Amino acid sequence: MTSRIDTLVILGAGGDLTSRLLLPGIASYLASRDAQSVEIIGVDREDFSAAQWHKRISTAFASAPSALGTRVADASSYLRGDATNPDDLARVLAAAKGRVALYFALPPAVAELACRALSTMTLPAGITLVLEKPFGTDLRSAAALNRLLQTMVPEKQIFRVDHFLGKSTVLNLIGLRFANRIFEPLFSRDNVEKVEIIADESLGLEHRAGYYDHAGALEDMIQSHLLLVLALAAMEPPASLDAEDLRGSMAQVLRATRPWRKNGTSSRRARYGAGSVDGRRMPAYIDEDGVDPRRKTETLAQVTLAIDNWRWEGVPFIVRSGKALAESRQEVIVTFKEVPHLPAGLTGVASPSRLRVSLKPATLDLDLVVNGEGDPFTLDQSILHAELGEAELSAYGEVLADVLEGSSVISVRGDVAEQCWRIVEPVMKAWSKDLVPLETYPAGSLGPSEW
Ligand code: BG6
Repeated sequence: MTSRIDTLVILGAGGDLTSRLLLPGIASYLASRDAQSVEIIGVDREDFSAAQWHKRISTAFASAPSALGTRVADASSYLRGDATNPDDLARVLAAAKGRVALYFALPPAVAELACRALSTMTLPAGITLVLEKPFGTDLRSAAALNRLLQTMVPEKQIFRVDHFLGKSTVLNLIGLRFANRIFEPLFSRDNVEKVEIIADESLGLEHRAGYYDHAGALEDMIQSHLLLVLALAAMEPPASLDAEDLRGSMAQVLRATRPWRKNGTSSRRARYGAGSVDGRRMPAYIDEDGVDPRRKTETLAQVTLAIDNWRWEGVPFIVRSGKALAESRQEVIVTFKEVPHLPAGLTGVASPSRLRVSLKPATLDLDLVVNGEGDPFTLDQSILHAELGEAELSAYGEVLADVLEGSSVISVRGDVAEQCWRIVEPVMKAWSKDLVPLETYPAGSLGPSEW
């Protein structure tokens, strides 16, 4: 398929997101689709020479065929400008040819200001606005941003990025659940004890205090990425994977989701102290550059959620994410209920069966209880393990494919973005009132010992 977007304007082209994820994502997409090139216009406040900007692009395209890197670099340009200034934006839009996508690779507050500036201008027909997560900073601001965007372009021209929806392993939850009779009928309160959705990272702050110290683990990971994973793990089967069906199913289950205790206290939060990860010393979070300890930002968050519908009533969904932990893992673990009766005469531990879907690395494990090898009447545990294939596109490549091809399947719909804030808001309130203590854990540990 060829690109429906002729020019991709990146606001915030000098930033880390552009060089680390966005440009390599474009490279991954263009290399895989043999698509026509797209013209990239980078915009930022810094002075970049044409040579510096081309170097940025060539570096990001290093693993793509060299002819592709050269073609894209030659067709791209850099404009110095302030994304919140209407005159600068007018200059940028005048330089953009054909169908334009405007990617806000900017912190949420600046992206909002840029949208306000754009809302006063006449925009090119068909322009796509691409907004990064977090979308807004709370329910109110997300709703206000949605209202503003609706005055500018139709919903199908708004793309809210959440790169977890571009991960093939996350999308694989759809195939796993709805293309296998052995799983789907079991995914309900009759058979499931609990569901855990975990994203632990061994990485620490990585010099991102400017953003992270305001967000923390709850907003950075749970509010966006993990609630969307929850939606795919718990939604009703959509009739098709077109944007309305899939996103409709996701929205429906998120509307039924709330904190287990409605006041948000079914949650835990902690912050890492000094320690070592993989033999590397890591300072305490509060000693990292740019951190304000008074903010009480958590680096590990866990929330237990309930889904008020027939399928999931009474099943806890435990969602957790943290930084500077002993190991990195991203998993959805479904623990099934114990069997109602074990034939007398079978001994050993009949631990419940579990389905473990690892999002990174891409693997699948089904823990089963079987008759043992030695004494056949003593139960043993056996694991069916599968390695899932590597995705053709990086998560950002997948996101950009949707943006450039004009699809909205993996764009977060406006109401879904608001639902995700609505779900975590009681937790944010409980934490701001100190109803949940802020615990500590040494960097490189598994978290606070009692968790
Ligand atoms: C980002 C968060 O959105 O996702 C980071 O801001 C986090 O804090 C990252 O590390 C995790 O994404 P991935 O693709 O490495 O699993």
